[in-house]
Amino acid sequence: MRGHDYEERITIRCLACGKEQELSPRLMVCSYCGGPLEIEPDVSRISISDFLKIRSMWRYRPVLPMGDFVEPITLGEGATPLIRLRNIERILGIKELYAKIEGANPTGSFKDRGMSLAVSIANSYGYPEFIVASTGNTAASASAYGARAGKRVTVVLPRGYVADGKLFQSILHGARILYVDGSFDDALSKVIDDLSRSSTLYPLNSINPWRLEGQKTVAYEIAEDLRELDAIFLPVGNGGNIYAVYKGFAEAIKMGIMNRMPRIFGVQAKGASPIYTGWNLGGRDLKPVNRPETIATAIRIGRPANWLKAFKAVRESKGFFLSVDDTDILASQRMLAKLEGVGCEPASAASLAGLIKLVDEGIIDKDQRIVIILTGHSLKDPIAR
Ligand code: F0G
Repeated sequence: MRGHDYEERITIRCLACGKEQELSPRLMVCSYCGGPLEIEPDVSRISISDFLKIRSMWRYRPVLPMGDFVEPITLGEGATPLIRLRNIERILGIKELYAKIEGANPTGSFKDRGMSLAVSIANSYGYPEFIVASTGNTAASASAYGARAGKRVTVVLPRGYVADGKLFQSILHGARILYVDGSFDDALSKVIDDLSRSSTLYPLNSINPWRLEGQKTVAYEIAEDLRELDAIFLPVGNGGNIYAVYKGFAEAIKMGIMNRMPRIFGVQAKGASPIYTGWNLGGRDLKPVNRPETIATAIRIGRPANWLKAFKAVRESKGFFLSVDDTDILASQRMLAKLEGVGCEPASAASLAGLIKLVDEGIIDKDQRIVIILTGHSLKDPIAR
């Protein structure tokens, strides 16, 4: 512990005998009398202006497209940790590797960023009722933010393919749950159908561009933390988030927060890879999958609505799409958990599985600064393993 300047800013003292102790992370009780210890940082040397003004994605309100009249419906989303993965770095031989922990959002996934913004806007325009098709996380998020706004929320889910943690959240927050037999694609078709029959229903799917505006804030946060990175990996289902990330970086570059666009790599699960296959067939269209299958149920999507946006993100950033096996997804999930103490749901681990695949194939330069986005919390899906 010697040599760290925080030693000068922190004292550790016994509450019982008052004796100051030598700073040590393993010191639990007073080394003189066994009494309880108190840690005292020297706050007199810190000013309140050193703290961020808003600790959430609403810090970026000036770049969020909405009028001043919009009242944020917020649960403190965003401002998630970006952490270095030194153990995996060493194993893969990568210079710098970071994970953006989006599972740290209020309902445990990146969806909260977009949901907060879209629900705030819809609420300020007086829509009484929300609807959303989902593989689980969007539903959980819409249910929570809808509840906070006092709205009726309907979630349309593929029967039998929503992870327990996500389903529990929708139930807990009081959403009305409808099931379709089939996949997310069938659920989305139902939502689009219902929308055409009602002018008061408000859609919270990522076909809603306002949601993606909220999701772009993750890129602003990474840009502020790193200023420069070479590559970023994220899982792709419907294709909205990858575009949101690209858009956020493009804006951050324009604003001078970031130096250049990183290559963006979109990772799909092999049994549900319509964007990856379409990209490899020339990149002009997606290749729909009629019965998508993967253990990563979050990205079990066969006809992604945002494929065009996803293509643009990857094309403009000079990245590409790749697909990974379920076994590699699960192995990556375990690697993060066991080597780094980082828990994430299977879909999120596709990011790392994609990176490992490119490292193994010698396609990616290891002398780089790379970020993987971990989109959802491990407790979302405690069954898949
Ligand atoms: N990771 C997780 C954990 C997700 O829940 C999703 C999408 C994605 C990645 C992919 O993001 O669709 O923007 O490409 N989940 C949606 C949902 C489909 O309904 O929760 P995308």
